[in-house]
Amino acid sequence: MIRFSERVPETIRFERGRLAFLDQRKLPAEVHYWQIDTLDDAIEAIRTLAVRGAPAIGIAAAYALALSVRDVPAERRTAVLHAHAERLKGSRPTAVNLAAAVDRLLAMQTHEPELLLAEAERLHAEDRSMCARIGQFGMPLIRPDANVLTHCNAGALAVSALGTATAPLYLAHRAGRKFHVWVDETRPLLQGARLTAWELATAGIDVTLICDHVPASLMAAGRIDLVIVGTDRVARNGDTANKIGTLGLAVLAQHFKVPFYVACPATTYDPDTPEGSSIIIETRGADEVLGTQAAAVNVYNPAFDVTPVNLITGFITDQGLITAPDQDRLLRTFRRQ
Ligand code: MRU
Repeated sequence: MIRFSERVPETIRFERGRLAFLDQRKLPAEVHYWQIDTLDDAIEAIRTLAVRGAPAIGIAAAYALALSVRDVPAERRTAVLHAHAERLKGSRPTAVNLAAAVDRLLAMQTHEPELLLAEAERLHAEDRSMCARIGQFGMPLIRPDANVLTHCNAGALAVSALGTATAPLYLAHRAGRKFHVWVDETRPLLQGARLTAWELATAGIDVTLICDHVPASLMAAGRIDLVIVGTDRVARNGDTANKIGTLGLAVLAQHFKVPFYVACPATTYDPDTPEGSSIIIETRGADEVLGTQAAAVNVYNPAFDVTPVNLITGFITDQGLITAPDQDRLLRTFRRQ
């Protein structure tokens, strides 16, 4: 059993009936837990990215949903549960994990609060073991002295335990392998600069932070050997939504013949979404881009983009490595579980 022993604080805590999220908006300056007392707190935390990352928002929503019906009389519980589920699902649209986690609780035969909470805990535990398996399958890709590029944060903070894109890095580091990671700062909310760089550096991994427009020149100079990113939703055919900027990296990687991998737990594969064009892309507020410095002009701020499957060298999944990915391989891999 692999334990996450690096000193990165846990994203979601559920202890003695109380739920708290590590407030990622305050990182890395402050490690602060937001105690989630109501459904509104949870929705606000997800919307504002206090808790973020596809698997983490699924787990967060599952706990919040279960807790939200704790004091609701049995005869009204299922109706209230469905209403709360709809509100949670509306909080962020792109990551499939959120809707899938909520639906998993709705689909249970009985909606007893203790059973719902136990299911949320099971989801959390499954997530930890999926990360460990992604790490094991992905670790051989991290060759000695490799220069790896990652984008946004698909790390421990976005998931639980080892993260997804970061899991192969953590395991290679623990095995004593020397390598180096380039981390895109990831405008506008700086998940790379604030979260990934901090997480990896805290674990003792050799990290260099770069602006989002630097990878082209690094690839041209042969200074990136491998790209690994996470994902918010993989459509049935393999088209992959992830943080805005991922598509540009995949195009560059193909041009410069750099392998481009997506770390994907089973919970992020969505066979009900046929292809990338069907994925809803969240657009966020102008304030995130304007800050206090820019002129007050129109802003377009999509949070994600879609990378077509033909630009993806492989998926590092909890069920194994899928190279030359296509719909058949993805369906076969994820149905085997
Ligand atoms: O807007 P965010 O910070 O929630 O976006 C997160 C990402 O794009 C991650 O890469 C993705 O959720 C995978 S996390 C394992």
